[in-house]
Amino acid sequence: MSGTRTRRAPDPARQAAFDVLRAVSDEDAYANLVLPALLRERRLDARDAALATELAYGALRGQGTYDAVLGACSTRPVDELDAPVLDALRLGAHQLLGMRVPSHAAVSTTVDLVRSRVNDGAARLANAVLRKVGGDDLDGWTDRLAPSAETDMTGRLAFRHAHPEWIVRAFVDASGGDVAAAEACLVADNEPAEVNVVARPGRANVEELTTAGARPARWSPYGAVVDAGDPARIPAVRDGRAAVQDEGSQLVTLALADVPVDAPDERWLDMCAGPGGKAALLAGLASGRGARLLAVEKHEHRARLVEQTLRGAAGEYEVLVADATAPPWPEEDFDRVLLDAPCTGLGALRRRPEARWRREPSDVGELRKLQVALLRSAVWSVRPGGVVAYVTCSPHLAETSTVVDDVLGERGDVERVDARAYLPGVPELGDGPDVQLWPHVHGTDAMYLALLRRTEG
Ligand SMILES: C[S@@+](CC[C@H](N)C(=O)[O-])C[C@H]1O[C@@H](n2cnc3c(N)ncnc32)[C@H](O)[C@@H]1O
Repeated sequence: MSGTRTRRAPDPARQAAFDVLRAVSDEDAYANLVLPALLRERRLDARDAALATELAYGALRGQGTYDAVLGACSTRPVDELDAPVLDALRLGAHQLLGMRVPSHAAVSTTVDLVRSRVNDGAARLANAVLRKVGGDDLDGWTDRLAPSAETDMTGRLAFRHAHPEWIVRAFVDASGGDVAAAEACLVADNEPAEVNVVARPGRANVEELTTAGARPARWSPYGAVVDAGDPARIPAVRDGRAAVQDEGSQLVTLALADVPVDAPDERWLDMCAGPGGKAALLAGLASGRGARLLAVEKHEHRARLVEQTLRGAAGEYEVLVADATAPPWPEEDFDRVLLDAPCTGLGALRRRPEARWRREPSDVGELRKLQVALLRSAVWSVRPGGVVAYVTCSPHLAETSTVVDDVLGERGDVERVDARAYLPGVPELGDGPDVQLWPHVHGTDAMYLALLRRTEG
């Protein structure tokens, strides 16, 4: 053995992943915004870009579990390690426990990274810690560090699948106590999501997307899936006639438009429109029916995004900056109302790798108050005979069916419509009347939909 050690420059994928983790830790950045910009700026080729994405997203998703393992392998508590060293160790832990990178490569590339970006002392520490991490696999570390399934099933699942325990409990509750279903959702949250696109009605169609290499979506007649490459290479996406949008988001929007409503059916409202994905789909559908859309958004900068998204939309629409809990429009003014409420986003964790560790259980209570106020306002805004779609991209019961129960309990003139009837062909929609979509079942975000009709009071 030679006494000298070759100093290698870290490879571009690992450097990029490390920089994403640094931005997330230091600047509270969002990885799904930082990473694509960084890949473009550094012109990483497709192979390196895929590796950088797997490294950064995997390390961020797994953070809670990886920190527990690193803590068990380090003489210093992880929260006393310098932040850049901890970020590099998380990347190393992900390669050892979550990827098929050979141990020697996972350790040596991380040590090289720490040496070049921190210092030699930190590199020695990283070497010692990661060698211990590599002494077992994730199942082995779960047996060593997580509670047993017999005494604390949610605690064990939280460790094994790297979610905070309160989120695991929320998924179990939303699955009607079915622990296996909740576990399947945790697994799905750790896998990359499909890239879905929507052809905005009146401006593009699915054929145009499939001709450009996408394949038709499973259920949305306006949807397509892009299996490889940047969706922006599709001309319709590039010029805003189509856009990236989860198929679940498309389905809940289409459901609202499909519920029968006696004439007139001319005035549609999107109460929480920013950044405008669902508003753009609604605007296209409304124009085909001679209806007009009002897209409301409380925050000025997000209202500007709605304007950008709607620019060029077929038909008539207006964007209004307003607080929808104190509506400036008259009572019973609308035939159809979409309330896509601000929520914890627990249904889209696979798309936002760091989000699960940033959310707090206390966020749920705050958001629930707002959701109740907004839903009260939505049913106040719709005319008798008209419909409201209450939508969240969270399956947490405190944000979904119990919000609807509370508001319906306050008044006798609103009834639930069986939403399953308006998601034709979509399997496994449960007992109704509300619908909960799931990543592990439907491949969509975990969108919740309740359809409510105002009756004659
Ligand atoms: C879940 S997002 C809506 C996403 C949007 N429907 C889409 O598909 O692009 C919720 C939006 O509601 C806005 N919002 C929050 N409180 C509001 C209020 N009181 N009135 C109107 N909009 C509000 C937020 O700024 C955010 O843009």
